[in-house]
Amino acid sequence: MKGKVLITAALPYANGPIHLGHLAGAYLPADCYARFCRLVGSRTLFICGSDEYGTAIVHGAELAGRTPKEHVDIYHQTNLELFQKLGIQFDFYSRTTSKYHAPIVQEFFLQLLKNGFIETKETMQLYSESEKRFLADRFVVGTCPKCGFVEARGDECTKCGASYESTDLKNPKSKLTGSPLTLKETMHWFLKCDLFKEKLTDWLKGLDWKPNVKNFIEPYIQDLRARAITRDMTWGVPIPLPNSTGKVLYVWFDAPVGYISATKELFENQGDPDGWKDFWFDKHTKYVQFIGKDNIVFHAVIFPAMIMGQDLPYKLVDELPANEFLNLEGKKFSKSSGWYIDLADFLTRYPAEVIRYTLAANAPETQDAEFTFKDFQMRVNTELVGKFGNFIHRTLSFVWDRMDRTIPECHEFSELDNTFLANLQTIVMEAKHSYEHFRLRKAAGCIMELSALANVYFDHKKPWALLKDKTKTEELETTIYCCIMAIKALALISFPIMPLSAEKIWKMLGHESILETSNWDTVMKDELCSGKLITEPHTLFEKIEDAAIAIEIAKLQASQTISAASTIKPEITFDDFEKVDIRVGQILSAEAVPKSSKLLKLEIDFGFEKRTIVSGIAKHYVPEALINKKVMAILNFKPVKLMGIESRGMVLSASNGTILELPSLETAPLGSEIG
Ligand code: 2FM
Ligand code: ZN
Repeated sequence: MKGKVLITAALPYANGPIHLGHLAGAYLPADCYARFCRLVGSRTLFICGSDEYGTAIVHGAELAGRTPKEHVDIYHQTNLELFQKLGIQFDFYSRTTSKYHAPIVQEFFLQLLKNGFIETKETMQLYSESEKRFLADRFVVGTCPKCGFVEARGDECTKCGASYESTDLKNPKSKLTGSPLTLKETMHWFLKCDLFKEKLTDWLKGLDWKPNVKNFIEPYIQDLRARAITRDMTWGVPIPLPNSTGKVLYVWFDAPVGYISATKELFENQGDPDGWKDFWFDKHTKYVQFIGKDNIVFHAVIFPAMIMGQDLPYKLVDELPANEFLNLEGKKFSKSSGWYIDLADFLTRYPAEVIRYTLAANAPETQDAEFTFKDFQMRVNTELVGKFGNFIHRTLSFVWDRMDRTIPECHEFSELDNTFLANLQTIVMEAKHSYEHFRLRKAAGCIMELSALANVYFDHKKPWALLKDKTKTEELETTIYCCIMAIKALALISFPIMPLSAEKIWKMLGHESILETSNWDTVMKDELCSGKLITEPHTLFEKIEDAAIAIEIAKLQASQTISAASTIKPEITFDDFEKVDIRVGQILSAEAVPKSSKLLKLEIDFGFEKRTIVSGIAKHYVPEALINKKVMAILNFKPVKLMGIESRGMVLSASNGTILELPSLETAPLGSEIG
């Protein structure tokens, strides 16, 4: 594979730090592919940047009490640093607020308009008089038109699951200020996507993409409609037309053009202002876009349509290896509910290389995959330390200690040696094929397959025994020669996933040049330099102890937070609060409720009377631990029967859905009122 390769990875929103899911979905596969392309000698350009416009950013900034610009400045820098620490080696990482971006986006818009692909339409949108602005769905709450739930979201009801237009909500209100909203007419620009139906269909016919991508977009293209490409807001790329004050281009119109504007910016910076055209206007460029599955429509349909409507010969995407999602310990990653791993913090305890390997071995290529700490520990301890690292270290230590630190000559190969070397070549070919076809899981599998095979070979040949028999020197040297061939192959095939470790191995083999600037085929064809000195072997990876993993799991559980802003209930008055009678009591006895895994029956002394309260805390407390504990309970609830037991009150607890704790009280006398 030679030629020219343009690689882009979905521009992450500068609205928070990237997490492992983003990494596994787009950035790691893209980086491994880029490293592979460079290694096979393709002229490679890997472009990315921050996606900095859109309502999500405005919302994030408002919640954080910052301007959108301050907000994106923070997260652009955060993500840039995270990418660097993770070894994601972009040729250029730009941002959509860069001065190079808006002019190209505006040019895209004007050409589409000139060519008849854009129309305007009047629509009714929700407007806040007090904030003097139209509000996007995510800023709106109201009463669900289906079930009457009063805190329904702008686009769907979290209670009954109905989805609707925000204009269908009853009593719509601003989520941020609570002020009422009214319907107001507004004009928008629409991309007439339906006009591209035939061209898109023909183009897709010639592409051999993964079924998850093709199956998703084919029906979508059959039902293409005009899509609004402008929004009523001020944070975004301005519409390059008069009478458009208060409106900007939709973030999904501007973001993909970022791939082009970033390339242009890179070449401008290099003093070669036309250099970007070498990639974007040359039909021989191979263009690969790495994205997560939630981005498929925009990359496979809308952006290609935008390109088809231009007068300039921009490249359409050739390969779209969209990945499924990576979940964390059985649930979706969610920063707002605390179900995520703080990558900057995680990277202070674990090297990027082992994270990269674990994600590659588990890549969500054909279905959603899972990151679990136990699997992470297994990948590191059993695979990287136990197989890969072990083989390299035992071989090189043997050479260092017993063979004068010198790569030996090879003599006549035995049948076993020949079989081993032939298997080695096959695995290297398989790894190459896997990288070429975006199959990281398989490539990671090849690394382990070769490590396992090499360990078996080493055990079988027993070099430590051959060493003791002076008549077997040639067999010993040939064995070690074959093992070093395997180490060289391991360095090569692991390079795209674990570049730093691969370079360390390369150096231990005595090379002065770096592997990164070598060539895949040459490395495999070159004979070993017998007589060359190796450098002192060091272990590549550290084992992860059970206790360390237990801490990670506990940390994750404890970090679950409830997003305060999204769950604050509607305002109440002091009079409302006064209606609730909360008292201090002391638990006299606690017992499990038969046939219930959740309930405990508590006898509680409130000083002036004793009450039975049934409480759903059995999964969090053993009954004995509760005796004599002081708690707070609401006493003026109407009594209810739970599993046949009358419960007269409710014990207060703090919970985020996973963790539950009864707040502690120490000296407050029984019966005291809480207020
Ligand atoms: O989903 C996302 O994170 C988007 N910011 C991806 C944009 S990709 C491209 F269009 F820039
Ligand atoms: Zn509802």
